[in-house]
Amino acid sequence: MEGNRLMNPIEQLARRQLVVVTGKGGVGKTVVSATIGRALAAAGRRTLIVEVDPRENLHQMMGTPPSGGDILEAEPRLWVQNLKPRQVLDQVVRDQLRLELLARRVLDSLIYQQFATGAPGLKELAILGHAYRLLHGLGGPGAPEIQTVILDAPATGHGVALLSAPALVTDVITNGPFSRMAGDLATLIADSERCGIVVVTQAEEMPVEEALELRTALRDRVRREPELLVVNGLYPPAPPEPPPSTGAENELVSLWRRRRKLNDRELARLKESWTGPRIELPQLPLDRGLPLLSTLGRCFAESARR
Ligand SMILES: Nc1ncnc2c1ncn2[C@@H]1O[C@H](COP(=O)(O)OP(=O)(O)OP(=O)(O)O)[C@@H](O)[C@H]1O
Ligand SMILES: [Mg+2]
Repeated sequence: MEGNRLMNPIEQLARRQLVVVTGKGGVGKTVVSATIGRALAAAGRRTLIVEVDPRENLHQMMGTPPSGGDILEAEPRLWVQNLKPRQVLDQVVRDQLRLELLARRVLDSLIYQQFATGAPGLKELAILGHAYRLLHGLGGPGAPEIQTVILDAPATGHGVALLSAPALVTDVITNGPFSRMAGDLATLIADSERCGIVVVTQAEEMPVEEALELRTALRDRVRREPELLVVNGLYPPAPPEPPPSTGAENELVSLWRRRRKLNDRELARLKESWTGPRIELPQLPLDRGLPLLSTLGRCFAESARR
């Protein structure tokens, strides 16, 4: 049953059409997007992970070649794409104006250039609109059939901007194809059975602060609760403190103990105010790549069972 606490987070997320992963910069949004994507694909869901970041971290993480914007199959039932919002917006113009010459003139015009870079919510709408089209089988020839799109969203403030863009656009543009798509997207985002929001954080002061602020901003501006909190990069429990008589302790071990103490304190602060489902992932001694993702996948599944 939906909302049943006994259903684990992966089973829940596998029912969504859109999963938006957001949180402070650098906390692990891309590894968490990749980990969730692999878990959903392994569970039978045809999944696309979309990264909106010119650095193409996702591709490097998954060991796929740079995509140049294309949809690439990374694993069975799992695709990855590095999306350039401007490319998507230009494609909307081409689709609407089927005459190449006319489309070219619009795309080259100063007014379009200004509109495309400056209109509030437009870039965000282009990203979501792209997901929407793929989910509705409108991705064009050769596009795979996708059941869940995972959006590796830009950091916090931009994540909220992304989720609130459709409602914002429907307030401003009230008819035409843009308005219809924005309306459908606003409805999708408001529906917690079709759209999941995953907040990623670390058990350190600033990321926790930002995660709590993000939840407030989501309540205020999107009228939504996050579905899942992922606390990433936890130090493993440190060995017990040696008695003072043993002399100086190895510096690395004492650093480890201090980090873990900080983690415990911040975890306690989170647990106090965040009552929803939570996944905890350890900091692993592995470089970016598939072995890191595979281990995190196992940790995710274990934490989900608890
Ligand atoms: N649990 C972990 N164990 C080990 N390394 C990790 C872990 N989580 C993340 N990393 C590493 O930390 C770095 C940052 O992670 P990631 O790129 O996922 O963060 P991000 O939130 O997407 O960052 P940005 O905001 O810059 O997009 C990466 O190099 C990743 O391999
Ligand atoms: Mg990232």
